[in-house]
Formats: sequence, C-alpha cells, structure tokens
Amino acid sequence: MQENITRHNYKVNRLNRCLLKSHESKLLWFTGLSGSGKSTIANKVELLLHENEIHTYTLDGDNIRSGINKDLSFSPEDRKENIRRVAEISNLMIDAGLVVLAAFISPYRKDRERIKEIVGKENMIEIYINTSLEVCEKRDVKGLYKKARLGEIKNMTGISSAYEIPLNPDIEIKTEEMSVEEAASKILQFLKLKKDKKDE
Ligand code: ADX
Repeated sequence: MQENITRHNYKVNRLNRCLLKSHESKLLWFTGLSGSGKSTIANKVELLLHENEIHTYTLDGDNIRSGINKDLSFSPEDRKENIRRVAEISNLMIDAGLVVLAAFISPYRKDRERIKEIVGKENMIEIYINTSLEVCEKRDVKGLYKKARLGEIKNMTGISSAYEIPLNPDIEIKTEEMSVEEAASKILQFLKLKKDKKDE
C-alpha cells in the first residue's frame, strides 16, 4: 500500500521548532491499571511543566477513545491498534517540539516496546504507575471493577484481561507510598537530570 508514497522533507524541522520553544521534545508514557492514578499524576506533571513555560500536550485513554479511537474495543488486537495510533500521534507531536504526556493502560509489553520503535527509544520515558489491583478495585472511581466482577464488562484489565508489569521502566511510582505531588516531583527530577546530563 505504501509503494506510491513519497516522503517530503520540510525546511522547518524538529530542531528548529525546539529551538523556538527553548526546550527538548519528549514523550512521557504513563502505564498502569485503570484507576492507578496515571491521569491524575500526568495532570499534575503537565501543570508544573506548563508553569515552567514548557509546551505540552496530554493524550489520555478515555479521551482518545471517545474521539479518534472510538472504533476500538478492549480486545488485545484493538488495544494494540489503540497504542500504535497513539504512538504515531505522539511521534508527530514530538516532531512538533512538544513534551507529550500519554496516559494509557497499555497492558502488553510488546505494544509498549513498539512505541519505542515508533518514536525512538531516546525520545520516550516509560513511567510505571504501580498501584495494586486491590487498591484500584477499592477506589473504583468509575465503577468498572464492580461491573467486571458482575460479568457486565468483559476484558477488564486486572480481572479478565492481563496487565504485564514493566520489567525495566525508567521511573516507577508506587502510589501507595507517595503523594501525587511527590510523584510529580520525582518525574520532573528525572527529566531535569536527563537535561542536565545532555547540557554537560
Ligand atoms: S488500553 O488498554 O487500550 O491502553 P486505554 O488506556 O486506552 O486502555 O483505556 C482505558 C480506559 O477505558 C480505562 O481507564 C477505563 O475508564 C475504560 N475502560 C472501559 N472498559 C475497559 C476494560 N475492559 N478494560 C480496561 N479499561 C476499560
């Protein structure tokens, strides 16, 4: 299908756009169970970055699934396609010079590895929001775990669908041991360290 496609190169590139904004572009990928706190922590990190005049954009599972990905279910194949499309969108946003925050359950290791292939390993920071199923289920903010236990929802991550724990995330946030503020500051600290290293 791609044989008649020719890639065009434009004069304004990622570096030009980043120079204009005076910061690097990156993808912060938040993975974890539903209700683990991905969106809450991403929200706080984005706010702090924004206050620091960093240009950001957040992609969130629930939001993306009510728009561009509303044709996708929670089957393994559709989750794979969900993550692939979001990785491609993130790739464009990285090229646009933005710090992208993506909050998706992204339960499968293989799909998360594929994100790195799409955006480039060096452009992605994998953040594992580690909250036990027990706690997520107790919180059950959206009432989905209850429905899943009653069999009203199928393929529910953690109940009837697998979550493959990241083996080597760049950052792990144990939400049962730290506050949202502490989590956000740990992430910003990591970002800063990386920037400092590059500046040396
Ligand atoms: S992913 O697995 O494909 O990465 P994504 O992050 O986009 O999932 O969407 C997860 C959100 O969809 C959850 O936060 C929850 O609100 C909702 N949801 C609805 N059904 C399910 C389900 N079966 N499993 C997990 N999340 C579900």
